Amino acid sequence: MTVMSDKVLPHHFIKMKKKGKKIVMVTAYTYYQAKVADEAGIDGILVGDSLGMVVLGYSSTLPVTMDDIMHHLKAVINASPKALVVADMPFLSYEVSREEAVRNAGKLLKAGADAVKVEGGEEILDKVEAMVKAGIPVMGHVGLNPQRYLVLGGYKLRGKKAEDAVEVIEAAKALEDVGAFSVVIENTVAEVAAQVTRELRIPTICIGAGPDCDGQILVIHDVLGLNPTPPPFARKYADLYNVMIDALKRYAEDVRKGTFPAEGEYWSMSKEELSKLRERLAVRRGDGD
Ligand code: KIV
Repeated sequence: MTVMSDKVLPHHFIKMKKKGKKIVMVTAYTYYQAKVADEAGIDGILVGDSLGMVVLGYSSTLPVTMDDIMHHLKAVINASPKALVVADMPFLSYEVSREEAVRNAGKLLKAGADAVKVEGGEEILDKVEAMVKAGIPVMGHVGLNPQRYLVLGGYKLRGKKAEDAVEVIEAAKALEDVGAFSVVIENTVAEVAAQVTRELRIPTICIGAGPDCDGQILVIHDVLGLNPTPPPFARKYADLYNVMIDALKRYAEDVRKGTFPAEGEYWSMSKEELSKLRERLAVRRGDGD
């Protein structure tokens, strides 16, 4: 197998941190989303389990399966992105045992992912260590862990209290110690994310955790305005939800008025073939020669 010379790999993320170069990530779940992200020069694509909510319409990420991630990962891989492709490990694909974690992560790598992401700290360190030992690059995910929202008491901001802040910092440090190559910090006060960023050799990729991180990640639906109710920490760079409604309204109007399709949007027969066809039709009707 050959690797594109400009392909972004996990060790490049660590190099970028060393050089003080900000890392930009976005989620993508389809072929064209991956193409667009790559053309825009995004460093990393996450095939996130957020697809459960923004693509499949579930109310949480808990129902997402390995098959769901695999399906969307294949679409992203088919775009051959230069960006690092990280596949999210869905709920219960890595928590039960080290063996299951390694096998499931291995399936995602075999399908073309460059790395996997798992949520949690202390509770999953043995799984992260086993995956890294098997040669699988692992991105951690601390702060708010949406897969644990039921035990966390909802989608709460992390690190507001010193005790909780220490828990987030220690989780990130422990993930680095067992070999994670980077760590996502979600929905956490900025001071805590900044402290983690200072303490770790590996890069921090933040979402709702302030500016003092090595990189940022957003869900593509929030960046492009495909989600009409984005979280407050996201910034909308386009309003595609309304652009799409407007486009579809105009299409429907044109069909109803009869102005679509117009010349150039359909094919016609040559004059000779058309007159031959007319002759044949006349014969079929019995009024020809
Ligand atoms: O699934 C996802 O989109 C994520 C990001 C929020 C980091 O985990």
